[in-house]
Amino acid sequence: MAARINPSILAADFVNLQSDIERIASADLMHVDVMDNHFVPNLTFGPQMVGRIQDVSPIPLDVHLMIDDPDRWAPGYAELGAFSVTFHAEAASDPVALARRLRDIGARAGIALKPGTPADRFLEVLPEFDQVLVMTVEPGFGGQSFMPETMPKLRALREAVDARGLDVWLQVDGGVTEETIVTAAENGADTFVAGSSVFRGEPAERIAALRDAVAAHRH
Ligand code: DX5
Ligand code: ZN
Repeated sequence: MAARINPSILAADFVNLQSDIERIASADLMHVDVMDNHFVPNLTFGPQMVGRIQDVSPIPLDVHLMIDDPDRWAPGYAELGAFSVTFHAEAASDPVALARRLRDIGARAGIALKPGTPADRFLEVLPEFDQVLVMTVEPGFGGQSFMPETMPKLRALREAVDARGLDVWLQVDGGVTEETIVTAAENGADTFVAGSSVFRGEPAERIAALRDAVAAHRH
């Protein structure tokens, strides 16, 4: 299976967003970081903006909600047509109920874990989710360094998914480069978010280089 590369538009030029969106058309999904200045100390955009991005995007949206009270707000992102909606375990009061609601609306349901949040309590309910996002930096900002200490958690999730024959995508987000993507792939990730490493150069070339880095390590 080819690696899924999801560029994060947090690293795009917000004033020239449509042209930056077109520059990542060769990617698998567009990662959209919603931040509310409460769950994380940073603020990006809300449903109105994400709805317009959805209108113009050539690829499906992978929405990452770094917000308080996702039980209340996440369904709205599914309703506007996002392909996947990922909320944080630390913020949700009833993660399984919320995931079911997102699936009912027609989105893939994802659960995100901050670096210090164990995966243990989610292992038995893995089939309720389509994706687990293992944060490889503290959420809130792009351009931080990949935290290798999150890899044992990713590996434990990969073992649980494979042991049960589940089709749950395992995503990493934060500090993903041509080097760290290999570490994440070796530990079981199949879906890779990359912000600054994609937009720092020519995005189509950076996306291809990230895919190649994973493919080369598999051969
Ligand atoms: C961080 C966001 C990431 C961010 C990654 O809180 O969730 O999606 O855009 O940026 P880089 O790839 O620069 O670490
Ligand atoms: Zn993100």
